[in-house]
Amino acid sequence: MDALRHTFEQRLAAALPGVDITLERPKSGELGDLAFPCFRAGKQLGKNPVQLSQELAASIAIEGAQLVAAGPYLNLKLTAETRAKAVLGAILEAAPERPYGFRPANGKKVIVEYSSPNIAKLFTIGHLRSTMIGHALAQTHQALGYDVIRLNHLGDWGTQFGTLLAAYTRWAQDGNADLERDFDWAEPAPDKRRTPLFRLFQLYVRFHAEEENDPAMRDEARGWFKRLEAGDAEARRLWSWFREISLKEFQRIYDRLGVSFDTLAQGEAFYEDRLVPTMQRLEDAGLLVEGDKGARIINLEDVGISTPCLVQKGDGTSIYATRDLAAALYRKEAYGFDRCLYVVGTDQVLHFQQIFAVLDKLDPWFKGRMLHTPFGMVKLPEGKMSTRKGNVIFLEDVLDEARERVAAIIDEKNPELADKAEVAEMLGMGAVVFFDAMNDRVKPITFTWDRVIALDGDTGPYVQYAHARIMSVLRKAGGDWAAKAQPGACVGPVVPFEPAALPADLVGLEAPEAQALLFELAGLPGAMTAVVEGCMATPLARQLVAVARSFSGYYTNCPILAPENTPTVRDARLALCVATARALRQGLFLMGIQAPEEM
Ligand code: ARG
Repeated sequence: MDALRHTFEQRLAAALPGVDITLERPKSGELGDLAFPCFRAGKQLGKNPVQLSQELAASIAIEGAQLVAAGPYLNLKLTAETRAKAVLGAILEAAPERPYGFRPANGKKVIVEYSSPNIAKLFTIGHLRSTMIGHALAQTHQALGYDVIRLNHLGDWGTQFGTLLAAYTRWAQDGNADLERDFDWAEPAPDKRRTPLFRLFQLYVRFHAEEENDPAMRDEARGWFKRLEAGDAEARRLWSWFREISLKEFQRIYDRLGVSFDTLAQGEAFYEDRLVPTMQRLEDAGLLVEGDKGARIINLEDVGISTPCLVQKGDGTSIYATRDLAAALYRKEAYGFDRCLYVVGTDQVLHFQQIFAVLDKLDPWFKGRMLHTPFGMVKLPEGKMSTRKGNVIFLEDVLDEARERVAAIIDEKNPELADKAEVAEMLGMGAVVFFDAMNDRVKPITFTWDRVIALDGDTGPYVQYAHARIMSVLRKAGGDWAAKAQPGACVGPVVPFEPAALPADLVGLEAPEAQALLFELAGLPGAMTAVVEGCMATPLARQLVAVARSFSGYYTNCPILAPENTPTVRDARLALCVATARALRQGLFLMGIQAPEEM
């Protein structure tokens, strides 16, 4: 397909010297494979775009394709066989270091910062968004040839640790919540409600509840944070212990989600000894101004941001923004990136506007490199989720519930299935993760169990089902057909398929349903590019649904293993099955979803 695109671009460039050639994808494969909209060229040349497209259709010729003028569009429509060769060729030649859609020689360095939970809190359904959007962005960037660094700006420093220290020292030793004594720390607790982290979380919630009626407690919490920043031994000891038990718990969840980071050691606390030099740089640049009660602020009115950026509180302690500034400066030094993406909720839009504006003032190098990709918050039907108030939906509860619902269906419909538990986990996860991706990134999501764990319609399990159905056809076909669609052990960002040979003759794929499937498969690289450009997994999720749906049409209308098929037709149709299975598996994998062989 790339070669044909290139030829088309060259012919257009030759016919239209000096005109910018940008190709699009037509709405359906019946219209064609590539479209050249003639509006801009028409304007530039002072010609009616409809007339221009007709002239071009008459004057350009490309072997294996037809050029069709459709109003102001010039469409390139491949013949059935050329389309099959181009699409199947691209998918089947993909190799571990060259996945389908890969663009060589990009080499740009991108930092994707995602997940970034606060320690001593539990993972909620809200954290799934940052984690899985970020994971899909990291995966897809890497599959497209970017050099990717995956960072987690763990919330392991800040005033909330004052709260936690105050709560812990107040109550934890009262016999009923002696965390250090009650738990065997080496063993992960079987019941998640009894994990040490959950107990810490309860203390945190209790503190916030009681603090409402006792404002003095607020000072107590502040005092503890000051002690922590000042290096007080007891505060440090407890803090690092809180951190350790949190990390253990997070790691368990990341393992379950199949998500990993280059390091978990670059959380907020990592920047502690870089805060003074950062403040010094701000001072030297003449940006610091005295704010209320001795606080230090940076005015941003001149760049259209009316709220100043607070970088130091009156009591001399650092804040969230200070640590983000230090982190950005560090990342420039350590990685020298081209882009740094922050996958963080819409509630922090102002924060990142401020941070980026300060960085621009400090060092023009940052201009245009920093990008906040906000996502909509998950709400409950009754309102906002709040860890402080304790009304949250825990991520693990959602994943467990999804797995159980799937298991019940498997028990009913396919009780003989091998690896039932494993498949139920993959499908449950597929439902939850895919649901998230199908939502517009920035709109808020209202959580209800039935929406988030939907198994019918445009869901992960629907796509997973298409894949499993193909695998079953390939197994039935015998020979090495199934093996051609099976990857080696998954390492790196994509499913490592070995290149497979294309059948010599691709006949038997002329039916509109086969052509429609080829057209949707050809849309996957563009969907991957759209993920990177729009910083969301939605285009990929949608394209996978389109592929799965058109596979269903193909399967119904083009018998694959029918005895009357000639061997040539059978091989061509099986090759299309292999390519579809590979493409679905790769796409799901980029989103962090596994594709079972059978379900
Ligand atoms: N820990 C923060 C929170 O839970 C998110 C951190 C986002 N990243 C950043 N560089 N500020 O709200």
